[in-house]
Amino acid sequence: MLITIEQVLSPEEVQQFRTRLETTHWQDGQQTAGSLARNVKQNLQIDDNSSLAIELGNHILRRLAGNTRFISAALPSKIYPPKFNCYRDGGQYGAHVDSALMQVPGTSITVRSDLSATLFLSAADEYDGGELEIEGPFGVQTVKLEAGDMVLYPSSSLHRVTPVTRGKRIASFFWIESHIRDEGERTLLFDLDQSIQALTTQLKVNDPQLLALTGVYHNLLRRWAIS
Ligand code: NI
Repeated sequence: MLITIEQVLSPEEVQQFRTRLETTHWQDGQQTAGSLARNVKQNLQIDDNSSLAIELGNHILRRLAGNTRFISAALPSKIYPPKFNCYRDGGQYGAHVDSALMQVPGTSITVRSDLSATLFLSAADEYDGGELEIEGPFGVQTVKLEAGDMVLYPSSSLHRVTPVTRGKRIASFFWIESHIRDEGERTLLFDLDQSIQALTTQLKVNDPQLLALTGVYHNLLRRWAIS
């Protein structure tokens, strides 16, 4: 399932990110592509070890930690430090599947990519092309969000970024290892949690059916979660 999360960053935060990213050094993204992806990847990235990437990445992680929709959708156990890329001048990323296991540089930590995330930092009208196309069970879904918004999609899916023919498409991207490895189970838990949250606004907090549903949610989570 493809889940969008609006306003992970506020317009003011996006502006601060953009100002900082404008003056930094961008390098050829091919340096960090896996061997299969290298032929299809044409973009720019900033050095993951730069103080700017670390600072902005940590800011995103702090925002996500307080985002209930993200927590509900991803049930994260580990998050790969956010990276930053820029597509311009026809830059694109052809169809590929993300690597399954990602070692966090400079550590012995490995993140299994269950979910891929793209957080848009350019407004949709700043550039032409640059759509994220994700192949799913119901065909190809096209994603182009407003600055500050984020999409989560299964890392197992074939996806691509179409050529950017005008302007610049700047984004942050990263991967999440979930407590719930199975996409179907994760989707069921998300749907159940969303319904419980909606009912919480309509029913008394101690409504017996609401308590029962909340119990079902946590007992499914207990049954399926890997820590
Ligand atoms: Ni990818």
